[in-house]
Amino acid sequence: MEKRRIVATSALPYANGDIHLGHLVEYLQTDFWTRFQKMRGHDCLYICADDTHGTPVMIRARDEGRTPEEVIESAHAAHSRDFAGFEIGFDNYYTTNSPENKAFCEEIFAAMEKSGAVTVRNVPQFYCDKCGMFLPDRYVKGVCPKCGAEGQYGDNCDKCGATYAAEELKSPYCAKCGGTPALRDAEQLFFELEPYRDFLSKWLPAHTSKSIANKLSEWFGEPLRGWCISRAAPYFGFPIPGHPGRFFYVWVDAPVGYLASLKNWCTAHGQDFKDWWADPKTERYHFIGKDIIRFHCLFWPAMLESAGFATPDKVFVHGFLTVNGEKMSKTKGTFVNARTYLEHLPAWALRYYYACKLGPGEEDMDMNLDDFVQRVNSDLVGKITNLASRGAQMLNKHLGGRLGTLDDEGRALADAARGRAEAIAAHYEARRFSHIPAEVAAIADAANKYFDEKQPWKTVKDPAKAEETRTVLTAVMNVFRIMAIYLKPVLPSYAQKAAALFKEDAWTWSDLEKTAEAREIGPYEYLATRIDPAQVKAMTEAATQKPADTGEVAHESRASKNKAARRAAAAEGAAVPPPAKPEIAFEDFEKPDLRVATVLECKEVPKSQKLLEFRLDCGPLGERTVFSGIRQAYPDPSALKERQVLFVANLPPRKMSVGVSEGMILFAGTPGKDGGVLSPSSPAAPGTPAT
Ligand code: MSP
Ligand code: ZN
Repeated sequence: MEKRRIVATSALPYANGDIHLGHLVEYLQTDFWTRFQKMRGHDCLYICADDTHGTPVMIRARDEGRTPEEVIESAHAAHSRDFAGFEIGFDNYYTTNSPENKAFCEEIFAAMEKSGAVTVRNVPQFYCDKCGMFLPDRYVKGVCPKCGAEGQYGDNCDKCGATYAAEELKSPYCAKCGGTPALRDAEQLFFELEPYRDFLSKWLPAHTSKSIANKLSEWFGEPLRGWCISRAAPYFGFPIPGHPGRFFYVWVDAPVGYLASLKNWCTAHGQDFKDWWADPKTERYHFIGKDIIRFHCLFWPAMLESAGFATPDKVFVHGFLTVNGEKMSKTKGTFVNARTYLEHLPAWALRYYYACKLGPGEEDMDMNLDDFVQRVNSDLVGKITNLASRGAQMLNKHLGGRLGTLDDEGRALADAARGRAEAIAAHYEARRFSHIPAEVAAIADAANKYFDEKQPWKTVKDPAKAEETRTVLTAVMNVFRIMAIYLKPVLPSYAQKAAALFKEDAWTWSDLEKTAEAREIGPYEYLATRIDPAQVKAMTEAATQKPADTGEVAHESRASKNKAARRAAAAEGAAVPPPAKPEIAFEDFEKPDLRVATVLECKEVPKSQKLLEFRLDCGPLGERTVFSGIRQAYPDPSALKERQVLFVANLPPRKMSVGVSEGMILFAGTPGKDGGVLSPSSPAAPGTPAT
């Protein structure tokens, strides 16, 4: 096998936040993959760093009376400690606030400028006098220009989903101090992407998955928009040479941070950076989440290309973590920081469980907390580890701690286990991690069957059967040894202890070929023991935060008030009418996107007794056709023209025999008989959300 040279990176976590279980979806899969490559004997580096620059760190430093450098230093310490706690084996964990990064940014920017792709444009931007700074989108709030919802951020509206520029907000205010910001002209630098259209449209399909390339091909239907790469002072970042008062936008220096961290490693290890990046034989991979595709598959390759740097070989994109089927939630205790997890549960359990769940695609990954406990206990502990703990303890207690030799049956069992090596290696290589625990569990099933048939726990008590028992336990221990080697990239410290049990050095993939016979084993050290659902409960309780500011508070208290009112009424003996349908969570109520629409046209549907066909003006959502089964209530459908109605805007279009219906109109009454459509009591702009 030819030795490969591989550089793999995970996205650089923001210095501004704690590492949580969602992040670990990425750091763990990159760790599994790079550990596997190293075990196979390749030269492989796992490179990462903290992403330190930008407004949030600057503001936090101000608030805490510290320097930004102090803030990022403590973040670096906390992140490093969390990653170490999860046994993530970075070869270098650096920082973007480094001399190497500054030098690379300047070099790449100079080349970008030289290529003619950097332009200067005038961008009016909000400036807060009190705070003394230009406000990034997330620091301006105001009234949504589309739906009128209050307290919306300067980039998009939480209520109606509209996206807009911060200047379009009505009644803008500074999110930091509440002051009123004023628009100021600011010259900013843009990196023009249109010149890279051909390069990118060829690069994408060759270096991303099919689905990502397809998705991104949508961008190529229109001119590629330039990307604003500068920010005005004050800003925590690198100044742009030749453009006083301007700094590199954090997303410029963040990916360059991959190169800087790699360079920093090269210097420390007497290696030539060129061999590790520019060399066409070197393989370069980025592991990233689906939220940052644009930066890694559009801007980053274009930047590298413009500066004549090698571009990544592949960008591997993963989905987001959900917990118990939902987005992680602070109020439900499912937004769990790495630290909180480690205070209640062992790292190896999460590593094993994530391996069970991870695949090569972009789908979200669910961590079901019951399933987590169950998989770890029944498979890793019950099936796999028990073989070693029972086998080793019997050998040590009754048989002098010595392995015997394999008989035909034992050899066949071990060979069958060994026979999965190439399949398992292929799963690692292709990031089909979930197949690996499944393969190992199948091997463990066969070994447990053998163990149960041979009943060594009985025969070990009969001195006449000592050698027979030793032979059986030798087979069991050899199969366990193979399983532990297979799992080593996922469970490094477990595998290390297992190797010590066999008195062997750190295992590589080629150790699979050996057998452990006629030698002593070491004492059995704890590898993995059952986890308790109570630990998980304690963890989620520790992670539960009272709903913070805004929205959630109001909703929750309203929901609980209603409950309390019903309970009080029941206590007083009042008849409480049972709800017609089971109670729903507030989140469920929030799901339908209810909107106002104006009826442009309403007519009968030929041959239908029930249906009316509506053409609706839905404002920013455009015009829609909706079929509604309310004809009997409206003998003259044209009477509905110009009426305002409420409708559900986020149902999937429904194909009916008469056409496609793009929503549902709200109606009160019995559709076949009486009642009518619901309308706002005073006119509202079409598209206005109803709440
Ligand atoms: N700082 C940027 C990345 C710069 S790379 C040059 C950033 N940082 S992050 O801390 O927000 O996220 C780091 C990585 O973790 C990203 O790839 C992101 O997709 C991933 N995840 C963050 N939260 C996640 C989940 N809840 N689930 C899965 N991955 C998630 O983005
Ligand atoms: Zn302010």
